[in-house]
Amino acid sequence: MPRHAPRFLVSALFLVLGCPVFAQLDPAKITGPETCTNCHKLEGAAWQEMKHAKTFEELHRRPAAREIAGKLGIANIKNESTCVQCHYTSMGPVGAVKVVAGVSCELCHGAGADWAKTHNVKENPNRIADAEKLGFIPPANIYKLASNCYQCHTVPNEKLVNTGGHQVGSALELLAWSQGEVRHHFLGGKTNAEATPERKRLLFLVGRVVDLEFSLRGIASAVEQGNFVKGMNARINLAKAELQKIADKLPDGPAKTDVLAVIAAAVRPAAAADGTGLKITNKDAVLAGAKTISDLGQKMSSTYKGADLAALDPLLPTTVQGTPFTAP
Ligand code: HEC
Ligand code: HEC
Ligand code: HEC
Ligand code: HEC
Repeated sequence: MPRHAPRFLVSALFLVLGCPVFAQLDPAKITGPETCTNCHKLEGAAWQEMKHAKTFEELHRRPAAREIAGKLGIANIKNESTCVQCHYTSMGPVGAVKVVAGVSCELCHGAGADWAKTHNVKENPNRIADAEKLGFIPPANIYKLASNCYQCHTVPNEKLVNTGGHQVGSALELLAWSQGEVRHHFLGGKTNAEATPERKRLLFLVGRVVDLEFSLRGIASAVEQGNFVKGMNARINLAKAELQKIADKLPDGPAKTDVLAVIAAAVRPAAAADGTGLKITNKDAVLAGAKTISDLGQKMSSTYKGADLAALDPLLPTTVQGTPFTAP
């Protein structure tokens, strides 16, 4: 029996049940961070300094991690465990999957096997769009970029939180959390420049929208009272309040209308005990709301211009999460 068979069973089950929260990557299509850093050297150096990379060597040694794993009956954090989904990169064909790194390039930019040879062909003016069709997540698509962050960072795993005692998601705000230790802007040269003012506004706005979407998807999966439901509810309330501040700043017009529509689509989850635990009684309505929010987020990401969103500047965070990497 291949060591990772149980995990595949679980992801196959997710596919069958249409689990909307987590889009599992196919380990057979992961090329590994070294493939990327062959060309992207400075990005690789920046990544080495991220907690995303360090988790590979550090997580299983941390007492807090051992305690969570112990409560869940997990003996080996780096292998065959729930932890792999969010803390590690798995690659290889079915039956020979190995954990090779922490959260590496392809967990944020898409599994590379199909697109890696397309995205960099300078002679092809449509290289980025062509690569995107093959699974590449280009930084220009802020909606897709953000979805990846939040599917991990909302920690949509009820058992992990309630039984394991894992923290209930992160206070990830996309602008501050992408411009600190995660920043790696080297296509233009050696300066690890911050995002432009226009892009910052879009990162901020779309991030808030996607946080709400994934918090709703998370709570829709709940089956018991506990920290998970409490935490997801708190996320939903916070995201709505932050979006209301955004709506209040925007002048009357299409952007304000869209943001108000996002808030309105966040259907309040209604819970009832059903004998064995908890049932989100309006799950379909919550998920339909999440879908509406997703559509609006994609529209904002692909059609809005940061130049039109200067009204948001007073709301933008002034500090970043972690220290940005400086090229030697
Ligand atoms: C053979 C060299 C090479 C390899 C291997 C490579 N890249 Fe690239 N990559 C490039 C070049 C060159 C560009 C700039 C293309 C351009 O100017 O549009 C680029 C651009 C990018 C961009 C920005 C694209 C955009 O939208 O502007 C990302 C993100 C990226 N690469 C990620 C990766 C990841 C992740 C991997 C590993 C799976 C990878 N690359 C492997 C050479 C490479
Ligand atoms: C659904 C995604 C997800 C899964 C599954 C997951 N984690 Fe995490 N974990 C995260 C995220 C995201 C963070 C970062 C939180 C932050 O910094 O805000 C984190 C942080 C942690 C931390 C705190 C790191 C520190 O020291 O500051 C520990 C410990 C941890 N995880 C252990 C585990 C263990 C053990 C497992 C498996 C039983 C696991 N995690 C599974 C997403 C996940
Ligand atoms: C595959 C899951 C995953 C994805 C995708 C992901 N992260 Fe993380 N992130 C983690 C985990 C796990 C940790 C904690 C690692 C640890 O400490 O062991 C973390 C930690 C971080 C930290 C450090 C937090 C701190 O405590 O200082 C930042 C910043 C961060 N992530 C930002 C992002 C952003 C921005 C994105 C999207 C562009 C993103 N992450 C995508 C799993 C993920
Ligand atoms: C935690 C998620 C995450 C990881 C891991 C990650 N990236 Fe990125 N990457 C991003 C985000 C977010 C952006 C856009 C940042 C912005 O807009 O400021 C980006 C942008 C880029 C760009 C374009 C930068 C530019 O100058 O325009 C390249 C190239 C790239 N990444 C390559 C890589 C490579 C190679 C790795 C692995 C060594 C990697 N990334 C790891 C999230 C990630």
